[in-house]
Amino acid sequence: MKFTVIGAGYVGLTTTVGFAELGNEIMCVDKLPSRIAKLSKGISPIFEPGLPEMLQKHIRQNKIHFTDKIEDGIAFSDIIFLCVGTPQNNDGKADLSQIEEASKDIAKHMKSYKLIIEKSTVPVNTHQWVKKVIKRYAKKNIEFDVTSNPEFLKEGSAVYDFMNPDRIVVGVETNRAKEILEKLYKPFKEKAIPLIITTPAAAELIKHASNSFLAMKISYINMVSELCEKVGADINMVAEGMGHDKRIGRDFLKAGIGYGGSCFPKDVKAFIKIAEEQGVDFTLLEEVEKINFSRRIKFLKKIKEALWITKDKNIALWGLAFKPDTDDIREAPSIDIVRELEKSGVNLRLYDPQAMENFKHLFSDSKHVRYFNDKYEALVNAEALIIITEWDEFAKADLDKIKANMKLPIIIDGRNVYPPQIMKEKGFEYYSIGREKINNGDVWK
Ligand code: NAD
Ligand code: UGA
Repeated sequence: MKFTVIGAGYVGLTTTVGFAELGNEIMCVDKLPSRIAKLSKGISPIFEPGLPEMLQKHIRQNKIHFTDKIEDGIAFSDIIFLCVGTPQNNDGKADLSQIEEASKDIAKHMKSYKLIIEKSTVPVNTHQWVKKVIKRYAKKNIEFDVTSNPEFLKEGSAVYDFMNPDRIVVGVETNRAKEILEKLYKPFKEKAIPLIITTPAAAELIKHASNSFLAMKISYINMVSELCEKVGADINMVAEGMGHDKRIGRDFLKAGIGYGGSCFPKDVKAFIKIAEEQGVDFTLLEEVEKINFSRRIKFLKKIKEALWITKDKNIALWGLAFKPDTDDIREAPSIDIVRELEKSGVNLRLYDPQAMENFKHLFSDSKHVRYFNDKYEALVNAEALIIITEWDEFAKADLDKIKANMKLPIIIDGRNVYPPQIMKEKGFEYYSIGREKINNGDVWK
């Protein structure tokens, strides 16, 4: 099939290469000419495992095309995926201006039937607004359908998640739209991936409710981890024991310094606002947010407790991305942690495998922040190492080399990267989340 994707970000690009892999031909439109220029040369503007290879392969095979001319995208096909951003407004609600702009563009340039598929995460009943905008701005009375088809991929495994989803949700109002989407998703149905066909409003709600639920799971386990620290239990063992219950599941029970990223923080906030507007008392989610934010404060307290005076100390910090395998730092916990440490006069030695360039835009001219291309180099003369993101290469790092490079072998680990027993054997002073403190081989209760 031939179709158009509007928005060449994490979701738009993954949708483009993913559907190309399944044999479709796609025109991907973005309003940023610099992004399109890069993409046309096969250069991915984001770090996402597997994406560049698929991008280059399908450009070579002429399956994907890029343009910054919206009218070309709209003329290309009757099927249009909306994958533009829906960031957070100042009042916490979703900012839908990119959705409106793209809808107006579709209205202005459409000459025949269009199926508009919302893939962006939007508040419930946004499809109604998209319909209204298209009707208002269309030059002629042309038939169209608006459907909701939320995306559930995770950054860092976007391509894999797109190709292997747990389920596909499609919210439709007409048979015509249903048939097109069933055809589009046939390869997934053949792999026995459930295709849930529902109304657009339910589909929009499924997305916000799913993200908020996952965020709630994280806040829940983080509170249990706090209890573990008080009573001397190990959070990983508790999560393991809980996770074997199929009704609970082990995923998203990793305690740490809380969730960040471009999705959970804004989507939980937007969902709270939606409930508020409908007069529904969803304070449960406000608590989820509060717990999440307090993780950063507690972690800073942990650093203080471990180091006492932090001013003028050299401290290494590994991990800036909001999660491993991405260069995305949107709402990353590292931003608040670095900002607070910088304020207290710490000399920070930062390392991240992919996110340093993005981070430099935020902390470029600070005399308290230095960047290192080698993680061991960042440790030289450091009185402590702080870990914020659980990149695999940190878990696999040479602990003897870490110890040899540091001035003092103190690690404050926000993501439980190392087993406490090993840290004990290696003689580290080791602080983690919801587990025993290790002090040079001794256990502190
Ligand atoms: P992004 O910011 O990475 O990309 C959005 C792209 O849309 C940008 O390149 C922007 O230039 C382009 N754009 C904006 N308005 C446009 C217009 N009128 N015409 C053409 N291009 C336009 O965003 P993202 O992370 O890909 O997220 C997109 C949506 O998908 C959001 O609603 C998000 O909540 C949702 N989502 C994101 C993820 C994720 O992991 N990032 C996963 C699932 C769902
Ligand atoms: C999340 C959802 O997992 C996706 O299903 C959804 O499509 C996406 O949001 C979206 O709507 O944009 P993403 O934010 O890319 O995906 O990554 P996650 O793996 O969910 O991680 C989000 C944050 O939660 C990270 O900061 C991560 O460190 C944290 N997290 C995750 C935990 O603290 N503990 C966990 O057990 C899992």
